Amino acid sequence: MFVTFEGCEGVGKSTQLRLLSEYLERTGQRAVYVREPGSTDISEQIRQVILDTKNTAMTEMTEALLYAASRAQLVREVIKPALERGELVICDRYVDSSVAYQGYGRQMGAELIKKINAPAVDGCMPDLTIFIDLSPEHSWRTYRTADRLEQESNEFFKRVYDGFINEISVSNGRIVPIKPDFDKNVTSQKIIAVMRERGIIK
Ligand code: TYD
Repeated sequence: MFVTFEGCEGVGKSTQLRLLSEYLERTGQRAVYVREPGSTDISEQIRQVILDTKNTAMTEMTEALLYAASRAQLVREVIKPALERGELVICDRYVDSSVAYQGYGRQMGAELIKKINAPAVDGCMPDLTIFIDLSPEHSWRTYRTADRLEQESNEFFKRVYDGFINEISVSNGRIVPIKPDFDKNVTSQKIIAVMRERGIIK
């Protein structure tokens, strides 16, 4: 089974991934954890290029193709082999981030981004996508040192959020929005409940 986590910046996605991994560890369930862009040697090198604040000249098409390239490597090197071994794969961001950030945020269009990514993911789509549903104006995003993407405007992040919301409705139930609670453990229990209902974990 393949599960991905999505959300805007500073919504507590990494905390939720950590709490899920702790739950799985406590209950003796194994998983392969990856993040995007990155998680293979080559994908991490591509990540550096994408997020480098010096790369102000990067065109949006270059950016979209680099995310797809990083993904193509991760799918073939890690995700597919793990799924073939019958393992549970949990990925921090995946193709829905490209659709939301490049498709809606950069206004390249969701359809174009899906087209670019089709050969990259090569049919490897998540069984479930957990969307941490917090809009940018409510997010707990702190203004730490921002990478190239994080330097975008509020309007950009609003478009990204609206894009995710739009994609939920065309995902046939694959993308499940979870409203974060003030208590991170409550949020984690909601996520675990969805994964259990779907028979992905025990
Ligand atoms: P990262 O520091 O991993 O962000 P986060 O902790 O929020 O997951 O940086 C990844 C950045 O890249 C983030 O701003 C989202 C963006 N992104 C895209 O624009 N398109 C994509 O396809 C992916 C995977 C990420």
